[in-house]
Amino acid sequence: MTQSAIPDYRLSAELTQRLMSVQQFTEIDSTNVEAMRQLQSGRSGCFLLLAHSQTAGRGRRGKVWQSPAGAGIYLTLVWAFPVTITQLQSLSLVAALSVHEAMQSCGVAGIKLKWPNDLMARKCKLAGILLELKQSSEASHVLFGIGINLNLARAVRDSIEQPVTDLSSLLQGAPDKSLVVTRVVESLLDNLDEFERSGFEPFRARWNALDFYLGEDIVLQTGDRRKIGKSLGVDETGALLLQTTTGLEKINGGEIFPSLYPANHELLREPER
Ligand code: BTN
Repeated sequence: MTQSAIPDYRLSAELTQRLMSVQQFTEIDSTNVEAMRQLQSGRSGCFLLLAHSQTAGRGRRGKVWQSPAGAGIYLTLVWAFPVTITQLQSLSLVAALSVHEAMQSCGVAGIKLKWPNDLMARKCKLAGILLELKQSSEASHVLFGIGINLNLARAVRDSIEQPVTDLSSLLQGAPDKSLVVTRVVESLLDNLDEFERSGFEPFRARWNALDFYLGEDIVLQTGDRRKIGKSLGVDETGALLLQTTTGLEKINGGEIFPSLYPANHELLREPER
């Protein structure tokens, strides 16, 4: 792994003062993996890792996050909570809301959220978030791994299994990467402060107002099982409320599947083994 001598991202002094450190890598396996390595070797506190490219970028549910140089923003913000964290699910929704706020302030309009924490624009995925946790007796460190598509080459788009978009297409020009990172991290830090004070409640209505699937029939995949129902948004813990034929279910893990197609019989087949 290499650390860049000349940082690509110019962050304001005001922002860097809120963090213990900011490290920038020209290339790394994964900013989340590096953050976990640092925590395991005794590091603590709130810090930020940024990479120009990742050789082993990680997505949710064991997927690969393609991370070629300059095609995306790849960052991990580590935040230390003084208590045991039991609300990882609602925190992941807060992270998605934070990225949404940042996109809006950078002039990207019309973004919706897909439970639990994807950002969608024009029905295509713009950004994804991978949360990881390291608990110890002194503190709980949450790793907020955020990937935002900046400028995906055709070959990269074609190799991703769902429709994707990027900031260059949405803004019709190259986005200011430093501004985007600044706004994302500022917004996340502000919202984490609020979450520590008041929990998920202040965020719930905002999340539901941006829910791409609110009131829609969806198919939800959890492990090998699929459930069909109407999405009623999230509850006070961040669980997805699914109205099924047998009653209201609270879903705590899984993925809306497949990403953007309406529920139908074809999708209800058991996955092939
Ligand atoms: C998803 O599957 O939607 C989550 C993608 C998260 C990707 C980011 S890029 C920065 C950080 N480092 C990783 O290896 N993954 C996250």
